[in-house]
Amino acid sequence: MSRQLFVTTALPYANGNFHIGHIMEYIQADIWVRYQRMQGHHVDFVSADDTHGAPIMIAAEKASITPQQFVAQIAAGRKQYLDGFHIAFDNWHSTDAPENHELARQIYRDLRDIPQSQGGSLIERRTIDQFFDPEKNMFLPDRFIKGECPKCHAKDQYGDNCEVCGAVYAPTDLINPFSALSGAKPEMKSSEHFFFKLSDPRCVAFLEQWTQDGKLQPEVANKVKEWFTIRTNPDGTTSEGLGDWDISRDAPYFGIEIPDAPGKYFYVWLDAPVGYLASLKNLLEKRGQDYDAYMANPALEQHHFIGKDIVTFHTLFWPAMLKFSGRKVPDKVHVHGFLTVNNGEKMSKSRGTGLDPLKYLSLGMNPEWLRYYLATKLNNKNEDIDFNAEDFMARVNSDLIGKFVNIASRAAGFLTKRFDGTLTQSFSEQGSALLSDIHAAKDSIAQAYDAREFGKAAREIMLLADKVNAYVDQHKPWDLAKDAANNQALHQVCSLLINAFVELSRYLAPVLPSLAQAVQAFTGTSMQHWNATGTVASIQPYQHLMQRVTPEQLEALFEPPAVVEEKVTPGGEDIAPTISIDDFTKIDLRIAQIVNCESVEGSVKLLRLTLDVGEGRTRNVFSGIASRYKPEDLKGKLTVMVANLAPRKMKFGVSEGMVLAASHADGTTDAGIYILTPWPGAKPGMRIS
Ligand code: MSP
Ligand code: ZN
Repeated sequence: MSRQLFVTTALPYANGNFHIGHIMEYIQADIWVRYQRMQGHHVDFVSADDTHGAPIMIAAEKASITPQQFVAQIAAGRKQYLDGFHIAFDNWHSTDAPENHELARQIYRDLRDIPQSQGGSLIERRTIDQFFDPEKNMFLPDRFIKGECPKCHAKDQYGDNCEVCGAVYAPTDLINPFSALSGAKPEMKSSEHFFFKLSDPRCVAFLEQWTQDGKLQPEVANKVKEWFTIRTNPDGTTSEGLGDWDISRDAPYFGIEIPDAPGKYFYVWLDAPVGYLASLKNLLEKRGQDYDAYMANPALEQHHFIGKDIVTFHTLFWPAMLKFSGRKVPDKVHVHGFLTVNNGEKMSKSRGTGLDPLKYLSLGMNPEWLRYYLATKLNNKNEDIDFNAEDFMARVNSDLIGKFVNIASRAAGFLTKRFDGTLTQSFSEQGSALLSDIHAAKDSIAQAYDAREFGKAAREIMLLADKVNAYVDQHKPWDLAKDAANNQALHQVCSLLINAFVELSRYLAPVLPSLAQAVQAFTGTSMQHWNATGTVASIQPYQHLMQRVTPEQLEALFEPPAVVEEKVTPGGEDIAPTISIDDFTKIDLRIAQIVNCESVEGSVKLLRLTLDVGEGRTRNVFSGIASRYKPEDLKGKLTVMVANLAPRKMKFGVSEGMVLAASHADGTTDAGIYILTPWPGAKPGMRIS
């Protein structure tokens, strides 16, 4: 029966670009999603940026932009990673989008307004004391309070724990606390906060059931079980059972305002998981589907892929929020471990380390090498896994190329040259038996994919590849090819190899989608369906399906960026913040012919240009290039202009656009100024894109 799956990955904080840990999570989920689709199941696979919270607000302030601009810049950088690693989300949204504001507020209202007959509200207001920065005029999150450790007296320690002695305490225990934002001495101030009553017997009873009935991996369920009996407080002491959850923050805060509570915002972790639903809703709206009807489908399965550090949010708060607001609860939370790079080197959660995914791509390294390598390491436990450069090269070169891709490259040449690319359908008994062996493994490999045991799936597939290679070594097509008397045998052996290769490619298709597509084109067989059958009739001439990894690539990948590079500012200024292609296309650049050019009386800097951009009229444009060009240098030449710049009134007349010129940021005249000119052949009016 066809399943209906709603699948998400954790929503990454929009405070930085993706690091390799994020990419690992997406690749894991993407492999699983592609496998489910090959089984004919319907999957909606979504994610979004997690945009809210104090750190992002403060980072934006530092950069002198609004938080909205800040997260938009981050969002604009996402696509190149996702496309680059073939991660096929159906939608990428934002927790600051209207759908999320609306849904988060509605879920909150539903929790607040539970009628007395059903046990009453699960939201409670309580006044708490908190550190307040009198200069910044804001309450301070723990990580923005510093001071002296009460245990070991190390200076400059964070408000929640000491990095020197490891002590855990409350910010109020710090000696001589100060605000990390302003340096001011924080004051104690009370404020009303909103709490979600997780300790309510209704929540406890529900969660005791929900967390222990097979929705979580056994080791995760066991860990969660402990939280029902004992919990650690911020000051290191322990209490019994689940604690209530503080879901509000005071203004100024970048987030969603709490209904009927001006100046109060949802703590970022309240609205973050709602972003899963908001992204789905946005996707459905774009498709013209009804969100409520979609969610009401009793067969719908909701799956979350997350890392082991955010289990509490996904196994306590989130299911309870959904349950008691009268919504569908998750069916599975798939927890993975952390990725480390080259032997456990710790990766900073925000910056990552060692392996820069964009650098990987820009070095021309094949994204499917990484997908395959990670697949060989992944299982359904939440253990950490390590990216090891040597191991990576060995797995890719000896398994993927040596055992798998080589099957096709060895057989295809003979078929094309000697048999016109046509394959025989009659195989030897041994050949048929080999194909049967491959078919027989299908269910077991399928189960491994479904259970997220990708390493197991990869091992089984490589064992089959070993069998195929043993068959090659036994029948030696290159020897058969020496004597025309063996033509029929050669034809049979090579045809069999291509058929075996097609089956293995299909088994690997969730991991290697792009290679699978190439195999589909090369052999005319479908790679879309797990249970596709049929043999290959003919092939196209073989083209390289995959190259080997070289040691040079790995060396370049891990070579630390040269220190001097950091200091270099091209042309005297930093590259401007990232923009989206939509931002760029707002600027209408055109080829312009300088039909006339004259100096401007009273100005040593300006030249007056008369430009033709093919509009049947000319434009008057002033340009500050008189120090470098004489009017007769420019007359008749082609250049580039911004054609949709608002006209500007200047002392000498109206300027109707701008011509493009290059210069060094410091404006030194010896560096000069250079106007742009197109290659020969461009005509006035042509748009530049
Ligand atoms: N914004 C929250 C999640 C909100 S979900 C409603 C968050 N963001 S994060 O950017 O810090 O992490 C996003 C995901 O990446 C999490 O699942 C996290 O576990 C995962 N990883 C972060 N570092 C990782 C590795 N080094 N390795 C594997 N996954 C890692 O938490
Ligand atoms: Zn200490």
